[in-house]
Order: sequence, then C-alpha cells, then structure tokens
Amino acid sequence: MKLLTVIFLLALTSATSALDNGLMRTPPMGWMSWERFRCNIDCENDPKNCISENLFRDMADRLAEDGWKEMGYDHVMIDDCWSSMLRDKDGRLQPDPQRFPGGIAKLARYLHDRGLKLGIYGDLGTHTCGGYPGTTLDKIDTDAQTFASWGVDFLKLDGCYSNEEEQQKGYPLMSKALNATGRPIGYSCSWPAYRGGLPPSVNYTLLGEICNLWRNYDDIQDSWDSVQDITDWFFDNQEILQPEAGPGRWNDPDMLIIGNFGLSVDQSRSQMALWAIMAAPLIMSNNLRTLSSEARAILQNGAAIAINQDPMGVQGRRLLQERSHIEVYWRPLSQSASALVFLSRRQDMPYRYHTSLAKLNYTAGSYEAYDVFTGKTLSGLSATTEFTVSINPSGVVMWYVYPKMHHEHTQDDGRYPYIRQKYRMSSSLRFHMPRVVPPSLL
Ligand SMILES: *[C@@H]1O[C@H](CO)[C@@H](O)[C@H](O)[C@H]1NC(C)=O
Ligand SMILES: *[C@@H]1O[C@H](CO)[C@@H](O)[C@H](O)[C@H]1NC(C)=O
Ligand SMILES: *[C@@H]1O[C@H](CO)[C@@H](O)[C@H](O)[C@H]1NC(C)=O
Repeated sequence: MKLLTVIFLLALTSATSALDNGLMRTPPMGWMSWERFRCNIDCENDPKNCISENLFRDMADRLAEDGWKEMGYDHVMIDDCWSSMLRDKDGRLQPDPQRFPGGIAKLARYLHDRGLKLGIYGDLGTHTCGGYPGTTLDKIDTDAQTFASWGVDFLKLDGCYSNEEEQQKGYPLMSKALNATGRPIGYSCSWPAYRGGLPPSVNYTLLGEICNLWRNYDDIQDSWDSVQDITDWFFDNQEILQPEAGPGRWNDPDMLIIGNFGLSVDQSRSQMALWAIMAAPLIMSNNLRTLSSEARAILQNGAAIAINQDPMGVQGRRLLQERSHIEVYWRPLSQSASALVFLSRRQDMPYRYHTSLAKLNYTAGSYEAYDVFTGKTLSGLSATTEFTVSINPSGVVMWYVYPKMHHEHTQDDGRYPYIRQKYRMSSSLRFHMPRVVPPSLL
C-alpha cells in the first residue's frame, strides 16, 4: 500500500466522536507525581519529596519559570495519597490536613495564577490503590462536584477495588457527573488497564465517547525494560489501538520517566520519540528541581513536541521489525509531513541502517528530512534515494520528513510545513515560542 493510501485509510478509520467537553484536542502535557514520588507521605523526614502542597507548588514554579509552560507542559497532576483517610462530615473527600493545610482550592488558585492547570486523582472503588477513600457508585456525583468546586481541571480515575460491573456503570457515570458540574474537566479513565486493554473486554468506542484519555496497560517503572515492554504492547496491538486515538481521545502509555534514574541519554530520546509517534500524553514524572541539562533538552525538544502535538491527531504505527533488531516507526502529520523513528534494539554498537523512503512506501517526490535530535537537515531526498542512519544501541534516529516545495520562492511563504518554522523560531528564541504556529501567521 502506498503511503497516501495508508494516510487516507487512517483518516477514514480514525474514530470520529470524542468526549464533548472541548478539551485535549492534542495530547495533554504536564507533570504528575506518581512514578517519581509514589505514595511518600513522610513529610517529617523527607519534606522536599513527600506528597504535599509544597511539592505541587514547587513543580508549578518550575513549569512556570523554566520554560516548560511555553512548550505546552501546563498541567500539574496530583496522583494517589493526597487525601485524608476520612471523608468530612458531609461525606466529601478532603485533603490530608497536615500535608495540604491550605486545601486544594488554594493550590488550584496558585496554579491558575501562573497559567497552569490542576489535575487530581480519584479511584472508582472502595479504596484507592494506596488505601485512601475511593469513589463508590453512590459518591460519584459528590466527588465530581467537590473537584469542580475546588477549581480542578483534570481527573484521573483509577480502578483499584472495583469489579467489572461497577466499572461498567461508574466510568460513564463520572463522565456525566463531571459534565453536570458545568466546569470543563479533562477525564482520564484507567478502566481498560483493569480489563486487559483489549476487546471484547474493552469497548474503545464507548471510552472515546466518555473519556479524554485512558490508561490501556501496566504502570511504567523507572527502567528501559519497562519502556520496551510498554512500547511492544502498544505496537503489537496497533491494529486495535491506533484507530481509537484522535483529537480529544488518546491512548495513554503512561508517564515520561526521562530525568530519573533508569534511562540513559539514548534511551531517554527513545522514550520521547516513541511517545511522540504514539500521540501519547506527555506527562513527566520526575524531579523538575534537579533535572540534568540533557534530560531537559530532550523533554523540551521543540520538534519532538510539535510532532506529538500535531493537530491532525493521528496516532502512528510500527512499520517494520527487521531481523537486525532495527525497528521503523512512522506517524502521518498535517501538511503532508510525517515523522519517522529508527529504533535500535541492539546491544552492541551503533548500527548503520540502509533504506530509502520508497522502501518505507513513501510516494515518489522530493523530500527534506529534519533530524529531531541533531538539528541537521537532509535535503535533496527523492523517494528512491538510498540513505544510511547510524542508530545507537537502545537509541533512536528521529526524522521529521516533509515534501520539498517545487516553487522557487526565496522566502518562506507559509506553504512550508509549520513545524519547520518552529525550529527556526525555537533556535532563535530559545524555545519561548507559541505552542502552535499556524502557517498563515508566518
Ligand atoms: C509497503 O506496502 C506493501 C504493499 O501494501 C506492504 O506489503 C509492505 O509491508 C509495506 N511496507 C512497509 C514498510 O510498510
Ligand atoms: C456537557 O455535554 C454537552 C453535550 O455533549 C456539551 O455541549 C457541553 O459542552 C459539556 N459541558 C462540559 C462542561 O463538559
Ligand atoms: C460499544 O459502545 C458503543 C457506544 O456506546 C455501543 O454502540 C456498542 O454497541 C458497544 N459495543 C459492544 C460490543 O458492546
């Protein structure tokens, strides 16, 4: 099948209806506490790293002051272990009084004052996974109203301690209850992860109608093994999962662990590249106070982010698994552009992989390729031009590929893909550019 046909089919089959709250037309971005800070509630001995309002305020400061917000990372998401063990006298959830003395509404205001959004965590069931009060079916309306009254912008609803029948009822009910509050609240459903992630136990048509994103699979851990396991699961099941994503409705392979302890620099680039191909939420879980400059450069790579945030919102696919243990991934993008990722699963030395765009089913024509992690541009490519990429072990080469315009304009006139403009702006303005630059404005 030629690439244009594939794009056409992808567009046709990609799901049309999404949850009608107007939110998350591109994958959400931000920071979440779980993978890095877990359920550390020991504020007495570990005050900087315990789940408390200070941690979330600190991360909000970093997002607002270190260039993250401008790149699109605008959510601060509280995960489990924020609440008191007891509901209040009216049956409402309340934060732990020692660790969140100011309350959640005040924390939300702190974020909103900085142009950020607040996410919170709940669990459909008798208890959260960490043993805190859960949201049983009879508490759904109360909890939705409590979150809305605090000014919360996003809810992750986990699924520990509930059965299939309760989930079948509860996840759609929470969607209705959030809508009924009148406050637009992004909604992440962990439901499929509790049902094996695949049909017939999981109905992705329904999920797309009631949730903005959903965790399909296991929690990420701080290791390359975990990143590989998640990557394999998502792409092994791409025939099922890929068509379900689209604006307002996203598969969620879980948090970015870049900047922690488990990934090398090459592996960090690989996670960023694969999550961009997957149109995955870019939700970091790391310590923004002590991030290395390498980790920051990867997470703030404007081209990788622009690929992730492509307005067409089509999730990418794995094209090839070579016997050499090189894999090729591809995502169609707006303005006839596309992204390619060459991933090495080898453990020996940089591998020189030879191919051509025609071998990857690109149609005849002239192309240019921008190398996302080196910033070099390769011009004068035709579909049949043979080229070689050198891919480090457990690393990637990532390309943004766009058709070369035939017009002999000396100046960019807006017909160039918008992403190309972004690189130029990002290098001159040091990443302080608007998140999406429509070509008509350039
Ligand atoms: C290219 O298209 C052919 C024919 O549809 C298909 O068999 C092949 O797998 C495709 N190659 C890639 C790399 O997608
Ligand atoms: C609630 O749903 C209706 C109908 O789908 C939609 O028009 C409206 O924007 C939604 N409101 C919120 C706050 O999500
Ligand atoms: C999945 O959900 C959709 C939308 O609610 C519904 O129309 C369809 O019948 C469901 N499919 C199955 C197999 O239950």
